[in-house]
Amino acid sequence: MHYTKEQIQGMERVKRLKIINAVSGIKPANLIGTIDDDGKTNLAIFSSVVHLGSDPALMGFIMRPIGDVPRHTYENIIQNRQYTINHIHQSFVKNAHYTSAKLDRNDSEFTRCGLSEEYLNGFSAPFVKESQLKIGLQFLEAIDISLNGTILMIGEIKHLIIPEEIIGDHLDFDLSLVDTVGISGLNTYYALEKIAEYPYARANETPNFKV
Ligand SMILES: Cc1cc2nc3c(=O)[nH]c(=O)nc-3n(C[C@H](O)[C@H](O)[C@H](O)COP(=O)(O)O)c2cc1C
Repeated sequence: MHYTKEQIQGMERVKRLKIINAVSGIKPANLIGTIDDDGKTNLAIFSSVVHLGSDPALMGFIMRPIGDVPRHTYENIIQNRQYTINHIHQSFVKNAHYTSAKLDRNDSEFTRCGLSEEYLNGFSAPFVKESQLKIGLQFLEAIDISLNGTILMIGEIKHLIIPEEIIGDHLDFDLSLVDTVGISGLNTYYALEKIAEYPYARANETPNFKV
């Protein structure tokens, strides 16, 4: 299959979004937990989480354009300025998927999707109790991407909860030990298997690959 730019532009909307959402490969599967000023919680699945540097420890994610559709995650982060990012594991992948439904603001995805709120270290935003690897973030900046109206949301890590058993001797993670999942497109989930771990790649230490 070969698609040109013109063919991509000419595709029916759902076909295009499904294909373009899948071509970057496996994406991380996370739930973002937020709370508004009235204490109403919200939980939504996001596949665009990325780390933006470790000093300071910054994380970003891409927010779809804010328009007619209410974006509760965005509104809560702007109000409360704290949010959590929680890994999705195989045991609750279906629950996590359904947090993408457009629920009424008064209807929390925690309750509707059978996941539990957890409040840790006096942090105001809810963590997901069922998740084993979770991050509490302070919102710092929203960068508008004028090309298509999406927004890069940037936060600094305030709390990091990592299960000790996944951290190996060289500080490398084995996410398969806690059954963290990966996402392709918008509705396909993968189990992860650790297949290799290599040292830092130095120019003078590259193996003698045959070319
Ligand atoms: C697998 C998957 C990945 C998603 N990733 C994102 C994402 O990275 N950014 C985004 O804005 N929405 C993403 N969504 C859509 C949100 O989950 C959806 O818009 C949700 O309703 C937002 O909830 P909220 O309005 O309560 O914040 C994704 C949906 C699915 C099913």
